[in-house]
Amino acid sequence: MRRRTFLLGTATLAGAALTSHAQAAVPQPYSWEASPPTGNREAFIKWMVENRGEDPNFLVQRWARYEVLIANKDLANEANRRAFLLTPREEFALRQNLNRAYDHAFLDIGFGVTISGPHVVGRMTSAIDVKRGEKVLEIGTGSGYQSAYLANLTDQVFTIEIIKPLAERTRGVYDGLIGRGYSEFKSVTSKPADGYYGWEEAAPFDKIIVTCGIDHIPPALLQQLKAGGIMVIPVGPPGAQRILRVVKEQAPDGNFTIARSDIYNGRVVPFVPFTKLEGEAIKGTHRK
Ligand SMILES: C[S@@+](CC[C@H](N)C(=O)[O-])C[C@H]1O[C@@H](n2cnc3c(N)ncnc32)[C@H](O)[C@@H]1O
Repeated sequence: MRRRTFLLGTATLAGAALTSHAQAAVPQPYSWEASPPTGNREAFIKWMVENRGEDPNFLVQRWARYEVLIANKDLANEANRRAFLLTPREEFALRQNLNRAYDHAFLDIGFGVTISGPHVVGRMTSAIDVKRGEKVLEIGTGSGYQSAYLANLTDQVFTIEIIKPLAERTRGVYDGLIGRGYSEFKSVTSKPADGYYGWEEAAPFDKIIVTCGIDHIPPALLQQLKAGGIMVIPVGPPGAQRILRVVKEQAPDGNFTIARSDIYNGRVVPFVPFTKLEGEAIKGTHRK
């Protein structure tokens, strides 16, 4: 199992374009007991500046997006509201997209892939109802934003990215943030690999979130999900997935049952493809 093991020397040119706007140390240590106020924008910003040392310009945008997420019912509970408000999305965007970090949109992060939009992240994460202490696996680390959000819900986050230089760049982002005092990101264990096969050594998982699209549920992921566990996964043909919530239950006779529901009631949400590693090279997809 790897925890922050990558060599930062492999950071790529794409990495050089990442944000480096706010290098201040975080003023207060992270506490699971502490949450920013949600009564009004000014109280939120004041608390975040005093406790997290973040830039008010981004906090204004985070609050504005939060209000829309609430109106859309994309954040199902208190824990998800807290996680959204505490996660600095701007740290995971490319510099050229900084002014769009809180847009209702997915954004380019280099390597031909994207950071998912904030509404999709909120709704998908809410669908797996992560509780503190649960072990969560993410397939498709990408920018690292989704795992950062998860690290504000639980202290056991495992994430896999198939594009090795992207996995290394994102590990560098986490290590930089940890160095500045974002100790919550120490909970993120990452590795470059093909996530189709899950993470056997770290399994079983209470929850699994897949952030790339595929036409079936990978058997290894279902196998590595605990009984009573929940997975959220975009399933469907290329560019036209539906996001499924999959609940695995074990019947008294020992057999497993799988219940599926669509978190958007049938709406199509396109995702980048669930690609396939052959040796060291990414070749095609895991499409059946
Ligand atoms: C929508 S993007 C990233 C979203 C990401 N969760 C974030 O917060 O930025 C999906 C990611 O899945 C990755 N991916 C695709 N196939 C994969 C596979 N077989 N194993 C692991 N990651 C994969 C892509 O390279 C891409 O980075």
